[in-house]
Amino acid sequence: MSDEAERKACVIGWPIEHSRSPRIHGYWLRRYDVAGRYDRRAVRPEELENFLLGMGRGGLVGCNVTIPHKERAWEIVSEANPDGVGRMGNRLKAVNTIWLDEAGRLHADNTDVYGFMANFRERLGAWEGTGRRVVVLGAGGAARAVVAGFADAGAETVTVVNRTLEKAERIVEELGNPARALPLEHLSEVMPQADVLVNATSLGMTGQPALDLDLSHLPDDAVVADIVYVPLETELLKRARTRGLRTVDGLGMLLHQAVPGFEKWFGVRPEVTPELRQLLEADVAS
Ligand code: ATR
Repeated sequence: MSDEAERKACVIGWPIEHSRSPRIHGYWLRRYDVAGRYDRRAVRPEELENFLLGMGRGGLVGCNVTIPHKERAWEIVSEANPDGVGRMGNRLKAVNTIWLDEAGRLHADNTDVYGFMANFRERLGAWEGTGRRVVVLGAGGAARAVVAGFADAGAETVTVVNRTLEKAERIVEELGNPARALPLEHLSEVMPQADVLVNATSLGMTGQPALDLDLSHLPDDAVVADIVYVPLETELLKRARTRGLRTVDGLGMLLHQAVPGFEKWFGVRPEVTPELRQLLEADVAS
């Protein structure tokens, strides 16, 4: 295969060594026999603009964007191509997937929302969002994507519960109905009416403090989801499972958010197969 035929994409962040995206895209490149590459690239914040504006010259067809670049990447792509950012990217003012069109113009969107909801639905089978009462713990970038996903799915309320109330209030201001803000101390008041509880904080991740929640107030048919996937079964999910509640782990969000990017760069809509999940499960466990 010649170099000209090879399409190249990458994931950029600072730092970037932790990213598992190359495993996912590498699996799909092999599975679909695509002449392409997908690497990690460490890009410092002060290099981001030059990197994105020079992607075509550098032989790249696009990239994933991770911490701390998602918000600044949104600004850069919006300026370079005012119609270039998709609906969710503009709604969240943050993007994680960037691609070039045939004319070399930059485009971007946020696929975290799609990733979270696609996985949530896949893990639960038929799941209807209309009229649901959802509680989201956390008010960072990940929480913002989860709130937008449930709002779009027709939830009746999406209560954003956070240690720092002002950050929850900012999400509510930006995303509007059905989001509302609540301080962490009041969490137990909304638990008895919750259809879904999502941890979108970093608590419970290996190396972070545990999320110590009493789940006894949740209804018996509630669903508990975690965006943390190291460990795969967090203490929160273990407690929920022990209580007989349905659970959704965080690994699937990572897998599903990668689908639209691969399709844009390499022209094949890839499948999140059980084999891919097993590969990442082993990676997370190692
Ligand atoms: P990301 O953008 O990846 O979601 P983030 O912006 O750092 O990450 O958000 C982390 C979330 O975890 C925040 O909601 C944070 O609460 P604050 O807004 O009050 O900082 C929450 N979090 C982290 N450590 C916490 C702790 N020890 N107790 C309660 N919440 C915590």
